[in-house]
Amino acid sequence: MTHQLVITIDGPAGAGKTTVSRLLADRLQYRYIDTGALYRGVALAAQRSAVAPDDDGRLEALCRELSLHFVRSPSGGSRLHCGGEDIEDQIRTAEISMLASSVSARPAVRQFLLDVQRRLGQEGGAVFEGRDTGTVVFPEADVKFFLDAPLAVRARRRHAEFEGRSVQSLDEVESDMRQRDHNDQSRALAPLKAAEDAIRIDSEGLDPETVVAHMLTYIEKRQPTTVK
Ligand code: DC
Repeated sequence: MTHQLVITIDGPAGAGKTTVSRLLADRLQYRYIDTGALYRGVALAAQRSAVAPDDDGRLEALCRELSLHFVRSPSGGSRLHCGGEDIEDQIRTAEISMLASSVSARPAVRQFLLDVQRRLGQEGGAVFEGRDTGTVVFPEADVKFFLDAPLAVRARRRHAEFEGRSVQSLDEVESDMRQRDHNDQSRALAPLKAAEDAIRIDSEGLDPETVVAHMLTYIEKRQPTTVK
């Protein structure tokens, strides 16, 4: 049997990681793991239990009780569940984005999710999307990418994703993104940064198909793969 690779795609919000990771996983027939969803799951649980994002003791206790897992959805892709509840829609709000960024700086949360992610990566055959998947979670990953784009481009993309349903203006999206980039890059633990051996790609002006085609050239160098 051929060895199934672990591929990591890190980068800031709005760089195109989700679209590209999904597409890449689909081509390789690998699992797609959205690690940001796990941080959002912890943030939602903290919000529901009125746990402050800097209350390490209560966050640790909260994580101990938490059962986060991905469930394949009939329409393709996977949805995050907490216990028996599908929380995928609830974790996609602007408020939870910011709260996820805050709780992700706490050691208890990072340790808890480190174990969850490593378990998910044990068998290989997965594309992990996140902030530290190539640096901390899987320093031995087979192929690492760091996807980036200028802030204004990322904000425009994120705003457009809401197709007029956004409750935030473009300026608000950009300002939240700047704040989140700052939080994610400046935290002491596992900050957002490219691994030394990551392949850096600037997605400005590139469509997702082009980015994936470029990624596949690196992946095929690691191992001839079956591409759908
Ligand atoms: O990718 P996202 O926007 O869903 O991630 C939400 C937050 O979770 C992000 O602001 C920082 C945190 N995060 C992290 O610290 N490490 C990861 N591997 C993924 C996300």
